[in-house]
Amino acid sequence: MIGDVEVSRHGDVAVLTLRREAKLNALSTHLESRLLEAVRSVRDSRAVVITGGDRVFSAGADTSELTEMTPEAIAEYYRESGAVYEAVAALPQPTIAAIAGYCLGGGFELALAADLRVADETAVFGLPEVGMGILPSSGGVTRLVRAVGPARTRDLVLRCRRMSVTEAHSWGLVTETTPAGSHLSTALEIAGELAAQPPLAVSVAKQVITAATDASRETALLLEQLAYATLNRIG
Ligand code: COA
Repeated sequence: MIGDVEVSRHGDVAVLTLRREAKLNALSTHLESRLLEAVRSVRDSRAVVITGGDRVFSAGADTSELTEMTPEAIAEYYRESGAVYEAVAALPQPTIAAIAGYCLGGGFELALAADLRVADETAVFGLPEVGMGILPSSGGVTRLVRAVGPARTRDLVLRCRRMSVTEAHSWGLVTETTPAGSHLSTALEIAGELAAQPPLAVSVAKQVITAATDASRETALLLEQLAYATLNRIG
């Protein structure tokens, strides 16, 4: 255990489980910091699954900590515990969020930082921040725009509406849906498949896909070719 984060291994796959169920895995700065440590501790695995257990993924930022902060304190937050979302996204190996129940606010943003999302039929997604006078700011808006485009991002972010797993799947946000309680076993199955692939190819392909999301067409094509040359030379 690293604080409220359980770290376990299933062969080459690392599983990080949020264990703050009594507070619906609300992402306090403490929990974010422990998760950041946990993420750093599994760099040697071939794939990483992040889950919140059987009942809830995460109900988002810990609302008891949402107080007015100075710009300096906010900048410090993003450098410290708030860096966990980018740390997940920057992992070189494939990552999967295994989701059941509420996946709200920062919890949804954490799931979006993973490469793939596996959710059971109880999963509920939503970004309530605008209704609270703030906005999703842990990469959620940035990732959603790239994943589903601005119109659907406006629909979700501005209306603060909840989304079922069926809708999230139809938008491509959820890779696989499962019966209730099977999210983790399915995520582990997929993680096992990914872990069995040549790790360098998986990692380079992951990075090229990320870069191609923002690069110009020419730059993206060049990256593909250079990445191929690198893999071909090493392989
Ligand atoms: N931050 C801090 N604590 C939270 C929390 C959050 N985001 N979400 C839930 N909790 C706590 C509750 O305060 C409660 O604690 P308590 O038992 O000590 O009173 C416990 O988790 C259970 O939550 P509860 O509200 O009783 O469960 P519910 O099933 O009735 O409702 C939700 C579930 C998710 C609808 C509701 O908890 C909720 O709206 N949470 C806030 C979601 C949110 O706004 N997230 C984004 C923040 S930017």
